[in-house]
Amino acid sequence: MAVSGGRRARDVVLGVLASGRGTNLQAIIDATISRQIPARLAVVLSDREDAKALERAREAGIEALHIPPGRFKTKLEPEIELKYAQALKDRNVELVLLAGFMRVLHGNFLSAFHNRIMNIHPSLLPSFPGLKAQTQAWEYGVKIAGCSVHLVNDMVDGGPIILQAAVPVTEDDTPDTLADRILKEEHRCYVEAVRLYCEGRLRLDGRRVRVLADHGADPAGGGG
Ligand code: GRF
Repeated sequence: MAVSGGRRARDVVLGVLASGRGTNLQAIIDATISRQIPARLAVVLSDREDAKALERAREAGIEALHIPPGRFKTKLEPEIELKYAQALKDRNVELVLLAGFMRVLHGNFLSAFHNRIMNIHPSLLPSFPGLKAQTQAWEYGVKIAGCSVHLVNDMVDGGPIILQAAVPVTEDDTPDTLADRILKEEHRCYVEAVRLYCEGRLRLDGRRVRVLADHGADPAGGGG
C-alpha cells in the first residue's frame, strides 16, 4: 500500500498542527523555502493562542490560525476536531504534520487523513511513548536515546515508524542536555521523512514503512 504516490508535478500541500515553541515547524518552513522538500506549507493550526509556532508561521508569511480546543485538556472536542479537519481540507492539505501538538486526535480526523498524518516523537519508539520522553529515557538509564517520525493512528505514539535517529546518552547529560541533542536530530529526521513522502518513496507493508531507494524502484524487489 502506498503512503505517498509517485513523484508529483506539483508541490505537496502541507498543514502543521503545533502547540508550542515550534522549532520542528521552523525546520519544515526552512526546508520548504530552501526547496529541500518539494512542498508548500499552507497553514499552521494551534490550540494555543500564545504558541510561538503561530508567530513563526506568520513571520514566514504562512497562514496561522488559533482554533480554541474546547473543554478537554488532552483532546479536542469532537466538533472542534472537525473544524481542524475542515480548515485543512479547505486549503487542500494532503499531508498533516504534528509538531509538538499536545492533543490526541481521534476517529473522524484520523480517517479524513488516513496514513497522511505524521508525528515527531523524542524517543526511540516503542520505548518511552507519551509525555517527557527524554526525561523518561534519562531516568531509565538508557545509553542510546533518539527520536522517531511515525504515522499517526489511534494508538498514542504507536503508528508505523518512518524514520528514527539514535543519540548517545553521555555521563554528564541531564534531561535538558539530552533533550537538546535529540532535538537537533528531530529537525533533521522530520525534514527527511517529509521529503521521502513528497518524493513518493514511502510504502506501507503491514505496519512496516518501506523507504524506496529511488522513485518507483523498490530495492527489495517487492511490491508495495
Ligand atoms: C518535540 O520534542 C517533539 O518531538 C515533541 O514535542 C516537541 C515539540 O518541540 N512531539 P517544538 O515545538 O517543535 O520545538
